[in-house]
Amino acid sequence: MPNTEYYDDKVVRLFLLAAAVWGIIGMSVGVYIAAELMWPVFNFNIPWLTFSRLRPDHTFGVIFAFGGSALMGTCYYVVQRTGHTRLALSKLAEMTFWGWQLVCVLAMTTMPLGITQSKEYAEPEWFVDILIAVVWVSFGVVFFATLARRRIRHIYVANWYYGAFIIAVGLLHIVNNIALPISLTKSYPVYSGVVDAMVQWWYGHNAVAFFLTAGFLGMMYYFVPRQAQQPLWSYRFSIVNFWALISVYMWAGSHHLMYTALPDWVQSVGMAFSLILLMPSWGSAANGLLTFNGSWHKLRTDPAAKFMVLALVFYAAATFEGSMMAIKTVNSLSHYTDWTIAHVHSGAIGWVAMITIGSLYAMAPRALGKPAMHSNKAMELHFWLHITGLLMYLGSMWTAGVTEGLMWRATNADGSLTYSFLDSLIAIKPMYLIRWLGGMFVLSGMVVMAWNLWHTAADARARIIKPIPVPIPEPEPHQVPAPIPAAG
Ligand code: HEM
Ligand code: HEM
Repeated sequence: MPNTEYYDDKVVRLFLLAAAVWGIIGMSVGVYIAAELMWPVFNFNIPWLTFSRLRPDHTFGVIFAFGGSALMGTCYYVVQRTGHTRLALSKLAEMTFWGWQLVCVLAMTTMPLGITQSKEYAEPEWFVDILIAVVWVSFGVVFFATLARRRIRHIYVANWYYGAFIIAVGLLHIVNNIALPISLTKSYPVYSGVVDAMVQWWYGHNAVAFFLTAGFLGMMYYFVPRQAQQPLWSYRFSIVNFWALISVYMWAGSHHLMYTALPDWVQSVGMAFSLILLMPSWGSAANGLLTFNGSWHKLRTDPAAKFMVLALVFYAAATFEGSMMAIKTVNSLSHYTDWTIAHVHSGAIGWVAMITIGSLYAMAPRALGKPAMHSNKAMELHFWLHITGLLMYLGSMWTAGVTEGLMWRATNADGSLTYSFLDSLIAIKPMYLIRWLGGMFVLSGMVVMAWNLWHTAADARARIIKPIPVPIPEPEPHQVPAPIPAAG
């Protein structure tokens, strides 16, 4: 029996399509704002085209629209396969798809108009926030209800990560967005001053922890063993890392507020926990990489596996860099510079985008009921475009960041500053050109992926719009389980 008929994959396919579309939109905005930093004339003196208004469109587009769609789609796919059951509440699941797309469209159109809370990664105003909360809680209900009807006792580790991601993101979103609306388009947070800053960065940092890390680790723990065709290197180690990661991450947020009005001891707590965080981070990276032991030959022929392996390498690199940047003396050099931007994109284009792309290439043919992606050559091309663009982005931003940091702290014998801010901007301008070019490479790779997905879906396209026929009746939890289908 084909798996696509046994499992409820309609909503999975919709999220897959959405991830590809939002990936292209979010990264196009990234390329555009990178061009604005190089050639400010691209502002065209139109308020909604300015860097400051489009920047949140880029971050929301790539994190929540692209990353969010990929996470929700893979989560629905994985929870069914690992529980050997169909999705519970399939109508509600479909509602979460349309609800999330509405959230993304509303956020992406209101922010350039200047309707914003001005809180990084939480910019949308109160009416979008309420919708996000409703969709997110519904997503949680579908996930946990599906988990509850699973037909095998054990809960596979990928679901632990997805579960933590759902619970923590819901909590963070609701607490950080408690605000008093004063009109349809404006609200004020209930927190003020340094408390507001701390709540915001507790949210901002844990959005990295639970959205950009725990969720994508869920993806990794399912798709890496599938692609390597090996069991996880150490299952026990994955559980140890899970508990270590979720108990440490919440305490590290204050590393975003070094040398601010935040009490000094709170900054030191953030620094200490950031150093400890390296252990579970490298634990998961090592577990994923070692799972490829015995399957390394796959890297010669399987671009999806290549994406996954490099994603894990960049996960290890970005987390090492993050732990170092959280050391106060290092942060005094890196903070406010493009070094932070390099770190962000090492995590974002390196880890997040690559594990997503690898997983989508692994999942798409299975969710579409096809033996393989339409073109292996196109996947290979995508891999090289992505990695070239990524290295250009990182190389240029590391160089720019260290240059800025050193120029800003240089002093003359009399104590005056050696360089003006403008001097540092002129010094790093060529780096902005290289970053923009790198972005163009990454974006072109995404277009190649969309083309490939489109052709893979061509035969099955009718199924995307029509509900899939369900050949077997929905089993009740108390019934004798039907024969278990092959995973995949
Ligand atoms: C052990 C893990 C990590 C640690 C300790 C860490 C630490 C840090 C530090 C110290 C900063 C700079 C704060 C500043 O000076 O303003 C930072 C910024 C950032 N990191 Fe990480 N990082 C880690 C992993 C990651 C990963 C995997 C990502 C994923 C994509 C990521 C995304 C970000 C983002 C988006 C920012 C910028 C926040 C902002 O100012 O808007 N980090 N991180
Ligand atoms: C085509 C690829 C991309 C390009 C050209 C690009 C470009 C940019 C630019 C120009 C900025 C503003 C930097 C500044 O303020 O100085 C930025 C910020 C940011 N981007 Fe990207 N980006 C890309 C992909 C991504 C992806 C895939 C993600 C996440 C999954 C991401 C997440 C972010 C975040 C979180 C920030 C804010 C960083 C901070 O505040 O420290 N970007 N990006």
